[in-house]
Amino acid sequence: MQNALFLSPEAAPLFEHTAAAVEPILEGVAPRDRHLFLLRLERYFQNLYDGLVPVYGRRPDFTDFVTRLVCAMARQYRDRPEELKLLDIERDLTPDWFQRESMVGYVFYVERFAGTLRATLEHLDYVAGLGVTYVHLMYVLRPREGENDGGYAIADYRDVDPRLGEIDDLRVLCDAFRERGISVCIDLVLNHCADTHPWARAAVDGAGRYRDYFYTFPDREMPDAYERTLPEVFPDFAPGNFTWIEPMGRWVWTTFNDYQWDLDWSNPEVFLEVVDIMGHLANLGVEVFRMDAVAFLWKRLGTDCQNQSEVHDLLQALRAASKIATPAVAHKAEAIVSPSDLIHYFGTGRRYGKVANIAYHNSLMVQFWSALASRDTRLMTHALGAFPPTPPSIAWGCYIRGHDDIGWAITDEDAAAVGLSGYGHRQFLSDYYSGQFPGSHARGAVFQYNPQTGDRRISGAFASLAGLEAALEARDEHLVTLSIERILLGHALIAGFAGLPLIYMGDELGMRNDHGYQKDPDHATDNRWMHRPRMDWDAAARRLLPGSVEARVYAGVQNILRARKRTPHLHATYPTEIVDAHNPHVFATLRRHPLGTLVSLYNFSEHAQVVPAEVLAGRVLRQPFDQLESRFLDVSSGEIVLGPFERVWLL
Ligand code: GLC
Repeated sequence: MQNALFLSPEAAPLFEHTAAAVEPILEGVAPRDRHLFLLRLERYFQNLYDGLVPVYGRRPDFTDFVTRLVCAMARQYRDRPEELKLLDIERDLTPDWFQRESMVGYVFYVERFAGTLRATLEHLDYVAGLGVTYVHLMYVLRPREGENDGGYAIADYRDVDPRLGEIDDLRVLCDAFRERGISVCIDLVLNHCADTHPWARAAVDGAGRYRDYFYTFPDREMPDAYERTLPEVFPDFAPGNFTWIEPMGRWVWTTFNDYQWDLDWSNPEVFLEVVDIMGHLANLGVEVFRMDAVAFLWKRLGTDCQNQSEVHDLLQALRAASKIATPAVAHKAEAIVSPSDLIHYFGTGRRYGKVANIAYHNSLMVQFWSALASRDTRLMTHALGAFPPTPPSIAWGCYIRGHDDIGWAITDEDAAAVGLSGYGHRQFLSDYYSGQFPGSHARGAVFQYNPQTGDRRISGAFASLAGLEAALEARDEHLVTLSIERILLGHALIAGFAGLPLIYMGDELGMRNDHGYQKDPDHATDNRWMHRPRMDWDAAARRLLPGSVEARVYAGVQNILRARKRTPHLHATYPTEIVDAHNPHVFATLRRHPLGTLVSLYNFSEHAQVVPAEVLAGRVLRQPFDQLESRFLDVSSGEIVLGPFERVWLL
């Protein structure tokens, strides 16, 4: 390399060393491709190095470790199929691909949606018909037998669940989606593997190398010391964070269920394994990794062992590894943590913009449900308005529902700022969505009651939480209409926010709770399965039946997504500014774009609401054009009138 522009004096010699080490590996690679790899290595080596040094830098074998790592990356690149290498170049040229207003995500369990990976091929038209450009395939890699936390206890990261097909089916499916311009995302469960994974089995057998992949303790001394400050993720069915493994005679760290063994990321071998797995999956055509439960990757005594600074270093290094070896790939962080902790997953300070590309916007989801229950947007406006600014190169993963429960991540401070008791409001929301609050339209259920904190998380399908289940049972057409409007309000909100809207399978049809899980012994204790139904293909067919509930929801969602695609202001690089709508029932945002400003209004009440046209962020809306309904609004009276749960995107 002629001029190592991006390298510090400390990193430069190691870069030179690794660049030389990969030469024999890249021997058979076409000269231009070899050159591209070395250019990328040079360009991102500093990010890799800066991520690795705080974690592994003091080890005597650090140089050797980094060399092994870069050689592994070179092998991935060498083995990368030609069409993916072309995609790499395309993505080098369009690094904003996942931020674009054309992007729409769809999230589903392969098994629940189609049965198998091959059968999913039969539904490509359905997915594409909704305007989807990104699919998160859940539950793909081989989990442990029996209970497996919905596929989040992996027994083999290099193979798919045999019930879903063979590994080659995943490649075929990725190819088929890619041909249609749809990127495939799968879960990378990084914090833990299954107790039946060969690493865990070898650890039980005493093989020294693999025991060091986990946190194990001979007695309760350290577990008790950690427990003093550790919260519980599943207080109901998996209390405590450690599990006694009789054949090993040791305690193992198990943050989630007792069969999910936390990996010890202070061991560089774990890092190497994961990079190898990422390359293997990326070379099959996976384009986005959902980095599962990343907040938990690093443990520190005396803390809650979440969001430790080393987590962000590790993620930065993983990110850099992908940028070098498989640059088409993006990383999405699943960190369901408070706003002040969340922002670090995009990279702050020295890591600015270098960590995840996408992160779930948990607060947006929570605030949607909170405002919907209270018909009051003041907490939402305050909490989302106080969000720290994000780097321009990222996208929020915006969702209303997913496969997990809803935890009321509303701080006491935010609640107090709008005159609420945090505890009281969280209790209200649990009552409301479990249907216990008088007059509630919601049909959810409590998930994981924690008697120590009083927390009650909530399970339930979007439509059921939004009132559709109750309205249909009551055969009340007015209530049906209101609940459909609530569903569309949520979809418009995530489609209009700075990020990638993630539509959860069935929500585009208003699919409701499924109580069948209670009959399945592997699911019965976990009521999150009530909102993980099988795809109802009859309901999907009814989307073509004029006037049906499915047709009304589907057409509404499709219309929102089409409007999104013709609104360049919604590219995620243009941040969402939260503004005061001068009406406590209306949530308002601005998207400033070189073409002009988009003003979005969302009415969170079942009554018509009025917003003064002249005061929105100090700008006069003269002849506003609503992108959602493609019409001019009449504001001659000086007011914008919004119907029940109505939303407008005004230019
Ligand atoms: C993530 C998943 C959740 C799972 C947990 C442990 O939060 O979304 O379903 O239980 O990680 O892997």
